[in-house]
Amino acid sequence: MRKRVFFIFLSLFLILSCSERKELVGPGRLGVRAEKAMVVSAHPLATKVGLDVLKNGGNAIDAAVAVQFALAVVHPSAGNIGGGGFIVYRTRDGKYFTLDYREKAPAAAHRDMYLDENGKADSGKSRQGHLAAGVPGSVYGMVMAHEKFGEMPWRSLVEPSVKLARDGFPLTEKEADGLNWVTEQIRQYSTVMPSNLEREEWHEGDTISWPGLAVTLERIAEEGAEGFYKGKTAKLIVEEMRRGGGLITYEDLANYRAVWREPVVFDYKDYKMISMGPPSSGGVAIGQLFGMVSHFPVGEWGVNDVRTIHVMAECEKLVFADRAEYLGDPDFIEVPVFKLLDPEYLALRTALISLDKARQTTKISAGQFIEEHEETTHFSIVDAEGNAVSCTTTLNGSYGNYVVVGGAGFLLNNEMDDFSSKPGVPNMYGLIGGEANAIEPGKRMLSSMTPTIVEKNGKLFMVTGTPGGSTIITSVFQNILNVIEFGMNMQGAVDFKRFHHQWRPDYIQYEKGRFDRALRKKLKKLGHSLKKRDAIGRVDAILVREDGSLEGGADPRGDDTAMGF
Ligand code: DON
Repeated sequence: MRKRVFFIFLSLFLILSCSERKELVGPGRLGVRAEKAMVVSAHPLATKVGLDVLKNGGNAIDAAVAVQFALAVVHPSAGNIGGGGFIVYRTRDGKYFTLDYREKAPAAAHRDMYLDENGKADSGKSRQGHLAAGVPGSVYGMVMAHEKFGEMPWRSLVEPSVKLARDGFPLTEKEADGLNWVTEQIRQYSTVMPSNLEREEWHEGDTISWPGLAVTLERIAEEGAEGFYKGKTAKLIVEEMRRGGGLITYEDLANYRAVWREPVVFDYKDYKMISMGPPSSGGVAIGQLFGMVSHFPVGEWGVNDVRTIHVMAECEKLVFADRAEYLGDPDFIEVPVFKLLDPEYLALRTALISLDKARQTTKISAGQFIEEHEETTHFSIVDAEGNAVSCTTTLNGSYGNYVVVGGAGFLLNNEMDDFSSKPGVPNMYGLIGGEANAIEPGKRMLSSMTPTIVEKNGKLFMVTGTPGGSTIITSVFQNILNVIEFGMNMQGAVDFKRFHHQWRPDYIQYEKGRFDRALRKKLKKLGHSLKKRDAIGRVDAILVREDGSLEGGADPRGDDTAMGF
């Protein structure tokens, strides 16, 4: 009898797991709701800092400045003053501005600086240690954003981070794990081991302070950009470079400027999207993706239909092929933004997509994909007036180049790895490039960061973005489609599992649980190779609901938190 019951259960289990279950996809989990204003960032303490600024009457840019500095303290794997980033800003009356505070190659950088004597690219040098650092842009970016749009006193926006760094704060489990992982690397690559990191092991709830960083932030609070690019902080950076064989000089720091750039703006059905232009590839890439996907009824097909996944992956391949060829720093090369977004061009590209078969990318050796820990961070803010900030900022890899500037307490970026150190040689995200993204003194390395704002019928609709290297582009694409084509609400769209194709290597990467067995079988039948991987992205986004209230989508893949009022 027992045996029979067992067999009945076993057969039922097998039937259920093998048969093609029609997966019901609903709007998903509802996120934090607020009537007027909201901040969503990668860390609860940074979100709280931003929220307090908004509550005290600051606007979205004021809050963004405060959150950028707070993340540098509480989320040091990606939050930074030693890195760079991009802001997309939409004012309440529908004007757009995009700020580029991406790092730059030092003046002494040159195109073959990462090649060894045999002409082979040495990824160690572009990823770890002093040579990997570009000239940081974050502090300049914050100063410029604040000068143009800020309303609160500068000091009041830096002060909360000075306090966090000086007085300490409790670690989340993820942040404790991160520090346990990175301590040895920091010991190896920094010339002076910061005393606050001299500890066996960190646990959730332990208090950490960053005394050196507190003093540096105090100088920034007092002197603005000069507190970083000149004087004591500049001296500490240059001395660190000299001790560790890096390239950044006083002149590099004094010459750094952030730049207001032309936003990339395009339409998709009833929606207008505003995103980041070069030197980020993000805006152009999602512009191309939406332009191509508009030729297919993906909304009707549904989020789990094999045709939807296939078409999205095929569009992604074509876009990443263009990215490798045409995108780079517009101050150095002519980037054909209009041609790349031209509907006629996109229609021609779309015509290359067959619904019956995956297009094979030329059989070239596939890039090795992500051995390094990756980490960037994104935050989205809407203030009580309806101004919106979408900001993505990074050190590139997790904890950047592992160099804490001696006496200054902050990590430097390893953004130089985003250049193409040699044509066809993949960077840490498996991305390849050529001439357009070759290293030149003072040039900005190509980025995938895609801070984006979406309007519907002329009104603010969504603010979104994510970390994730090359997967940023495809995660933002999916996140927006999840809402506007597949009917999910904000948190549901953020929670939903993701996939990614970047042309080379030639496979679809997917998060566990994204494709069930039946879907995997169908995709393989169309000729796709599949590769399961860890979490893709950490999207932090805000949706304006029909009644005008806000819904935050905070990514459960991290400590991400939404708060509003
Ligand atoms: O700018 C870029 O495209 C990269 N440096 C971003 C790195 C990144 O997103 C790492 N994060 N998870």
